[in-house]
Amino acid sequence: MQWFVAARLRRRLFFVFAAVIVATAMVASGVTALLGEPGGWRAQQSRVRQFVSSRFADAWTDPPARARLAADIARDLRFGVELRDARGGVLLEQPPPGVVARCGRPWLRAPVRDAAGALAGEVLLCGGPAHWGPGRTGMLVFAVLFVVWRMAGGIARRMARPFDDLVAVVRDLGEGRLDRRVRLGRHRSDEMELLARVINDMAGRIETQLAAQRELLAAVSHELRSPLARVRFLLEAAGDEGATAASRAEAITDVEGELGGIDALVGDLLAGSRLDFNAVRRVGLEAGDVARRAVAHAGLDVGCVDTPAEGIRFDGDATLLGTALANLLANATRHGDGVRAVRVTQRGAVVRFDVEDRGPGIPDDERPRLFDPFFRGARGASGQGAGLGLALVRRIAEAHGGGVWAENIPEGGARVGFSAACAPSAGAVASERA
Ligand SMILES: Nc1ncnc2c1ncn2[C@@H]1O[C@H](COP(=O)(O)OP(=O)(O)OP(=O)(O)O)[C@@H](O)[C@H]1O
Ligand SMILES: [Mg+2]
Repeated sequence: MQWFVAARLRRRLFFVFAAVIVATAMVASGVTALLGEPGGWRAQQSRVRQFVSSRFADAWTDPPARARLAADIARDLRFGVELRDARGGVLLEQPPPGVVARCGRPWLRAPVRDAAGALAGEVLLCGGPAHWGPGRTGMLVFAVLFVVWRMAGGIARRMARPFDDLVAVVRDLGEGRLDRRVRLGRHRSDEMELLARVINDMAGRIETQLAAQRELLAAVSHELRSPLARVRFLLEAAGDEGATAASRAEAITDVEGELGGIDALVGDLLAGSRLDFNAVRRVGLEAGDVARRAVAHAGLDVGCVDTPAEGIRFDGDATLLGTALANLLANATRHGDGVRAVRVTQRGAVVRFDVEDRGPGIPDDERPRLFDPFFRGARGASGQGAGLGLALVRRIAEAHGGGVWAENIPEGGARVGFSAACAPSAGAVASERA
């Protein structure tokens, strides 16, 4: 297939160039003919015939004068000259200077007539540099066509070669060899380089994304395995004949806890894949509502939400923003000894969500990597988390045109938060409420 496409492209380029060259040659020769002498070389030939006929008619009956005239023509015009009588018998052969040969196929036959108009003989002109018979014309046409064919073929091959490389690389990428890159040789052009760069960038991105997804899948499988094993163990223990009602109730609570963890992990994965597919659904929101809903969903007291009375309206994806807040609230509960406050503020064109906790704060050396995928710090290392919560918060914030931060509060505890671009859209809020 690749060979076929490349060959077809080469063939088309070849025909285009050949046609352009031939058309140019035809136009050039047409213009030359138009600007040149009318009648071309046939008219010239007939004038030469007339001249030769009349000059020899004068000298025909005087053989020495006739021979001199033939010698003059052969010398000055560089033609072979042959004189024949009326019956075709050869009277004289005068080869062109430097050539000792019979007159072959004549370029011109000029009849010679006597004073009464009767045919007295014939003059044949042949050979010589001015001679341009059909054989030579054929050779010239052949030579021109050969040059055109070689030139058009060369140009077509030169232009099509980078395409061959591109097609080969794209085909390999399609077959899963994601480390393949386009390397243009010396036949590069600006357009080709641009195309090659775009393909290489695309291949690089796909390779990185697939590697990240493979890593994520491995981590998630690993993270799911331990809670599932614990659930199985708890269920077996609860089903044991000797289990008491109290131990069964405790097992059920533990199973609920494990299932909650699995649910949170799956929720994070779903949110991540929505971001991967750019499936962010923006609607008009009120920031205080978003925060209160997340706090209530986390089973906390909505009284901890601090938000301006006039409200902050912005466009965002309610589910994703809820997931981001849920992750911050879960961290504050798990790593920060409980939520102290959730603050919603507007600063310029962004809305900020801060979750403050009562914990020991975040060690300075952890802060630069806090939002990296799979990072777990001192407080999270012993827990069940995968280290994906804050990475997802960052992706959600970036999808909303915002950013993330983590700092320690002087009075104690950590403040971790994110922002979202706040383009007020009263219409969207109205339509959501309608
Ligand atoms: N409020 C906090 N106080 C102290 N440390 C924190 C706080 N929030 C996060 N961290 C630290 O940052 C690390 C990364 O947090 P992240 O939410 O990304 O992962 P996780 O909570 O460990 O796991 P997951 O969220 O995937 O269940 C945590 O392991 C913890 O060490
Ligand atoms: Mg977390």
